[in-house]
Amino acid sequence: MATKDIWQSLAQDNVPFMRHIKRTFILLLTVALLLSAVAYVSDFSFETIAFSQTWLIKMMNQTHNKIINSTSPDRTQKDLLAPLPNQQIQPRGTTVAQTTDIPIYHHVAHPRNYHFTLDEPDKCSQLDPFLVFMVPVAPHQLEARNAIRSTWGNESSVQGKAVLTLFLVGLSGGAEAQQQLEEESRQHRDLLQSDFVDSYFNLTIKTMVIMDWLATRCPQATYAMKVDSDMYINPENLMSLLLSPNTPRENYITGYLMWDRPVVRDKNSKWYVAEELYPEPNYPTYLLGMGYVFSNDLSGKIVEASKEVQPFNIEDAYVGACLKQLGVAPSSPPDPSQFRAYLGQYFREDFLRVITTILGSPQQLIDIWKDVKRPT
Ligand SMILES: *[C@@H]1O[C@H](CO)[C@@H](O)[C@H](O)[C@H]1NC(C)=O
Ligand SMILES: *[C@@H]1O[C@H](CO)[C@@H](O)[C@H](O)[C@H]1NC(C)=O
Ligand SMILES: *[C@@H]1O[C@H](CO)[C@@H](O)[C@H](O)[C@H]1NC(C)=O
Ligand SMILES: *[C@@H]1O[C@H](CO)[C@@H](O)[C@H](O)[C@H]1NC(C)=O
Repeated sequence: MATKDIWQSLAQDNVPFMRHIKRTFILLLTVALLLSAVAYVSDFSFETIAFSQTWLIKMMNQTHNKIINSTSPDRTQKDLLAPLPNQQIQPRGTTVAQTTDIPIYHHVAHPRNYHFTLDEPDKCSQLDPFLVFMVPVAPHQLEARNAIRSTWGNESSVQGKAVLTLFLVGLSGGAEAQQQLEEESRQHRDLLQSDFVDSYFNLTIKTMVIMDWLATRCPQATYAMKVDSDMYINPENLMSLLLSPNTPRENYITGYLMWDRPVVRDKNSKWYVAEELYPEPNYPTYLLGMGYVFSNDLSGKIVEASKEVQPFNIEDAYVGACLKQLGVAPSSPPDPSQFRAYLGQYFREDFLRVITTILGSPQQLIDIWKDVKRPT
């Protein structure tokens, strides 16, 4: 998700303005808030249900139609063709243990519902990466991709370990834009594209497609990092963390931890989630979407777990819900200050010390990288 805005909302949340207010005032305030909450909920709940169900039904219809229409011999599509409405899709190479009420192809975020229109299926067997950076990015954000390609994305080996950076986009919605993407893919061989509509609302699908790609095309990688396209990465520091004997190589995920975050029920917010999609008031512990690192066994496990977890449009919280389903607890990094939302004013020492932080523009990434890398 757009990490900047999250940080702003976090900062606002943390203002301890209640602390010094007298008890009676708090009581009055609480009553007033409760009353307005009741008014709010009764006013909006109807529309809420309508919205989320329409979306889900529409998606279900589309996926269903796609399956019925499909005659492609492509494997992903064949996986989808096999089951009847009440059967589960069998995960590759295993048998289904549990049953669910929702057939998988009705599950909008399940990555097997989509297939790759641009792929690099042999990249990992060729390069045998230890760490893969997976960058979700909008099709039109060429400048962000190029800034990454010329900075941290151009590191192919860090402390003797092979590193790979790939970008994932959805459908661009225009023939010309698609042609440009294909040209860019031929030139750089680092673009993956899946056939879902690329939008902010669909970031959960994007993340799950990333997980699926890692699990099916890159099982040899030991670690992966999902990192937004507006981030600075210090690959040396990240590698030091991953090569530390204390860092597990299985069931490990770390980043900027989010505890007890309330689900946003304000329909005007870009993080609004309908109760029908996620009924509980708070999210499970999750890692802020700007950049989280995980042992690559988790990519396949998260895809599996997602069959049991109803999708909602907040990608990082959804990964948190899948981790909870798996019984995997996110780890706090050894030095939490290395995963930073904002660093504020530029100090070179800060960028030498962090693992990741949010930047303002692609040009800033290029400038900062140059300065950080300059000989001293
Ligand atoms: C789903 O498809 C059915 C039949 O194909 C149609 O009647 C219904 O209106 C569709 N629903 C939506 C939300 O598109
Ligand atoms: C399915 O195929 C029919 C006829 O070939 C076509 O009219 C329809 O638009 C297709 N639906 C989808 C969702 O591709
Ligand atoms: C990546 O680094 C190599 C040298 O290691 C350099 O020749 C190349 O131009 C760089 N690529 C980009 C896109 O900056
Ligand atoms: C999300 O992606 C699906 C599949 O491509 C598409 O049908 C739907 O319209 C998209 N939703 C939004 C809000 O972009």
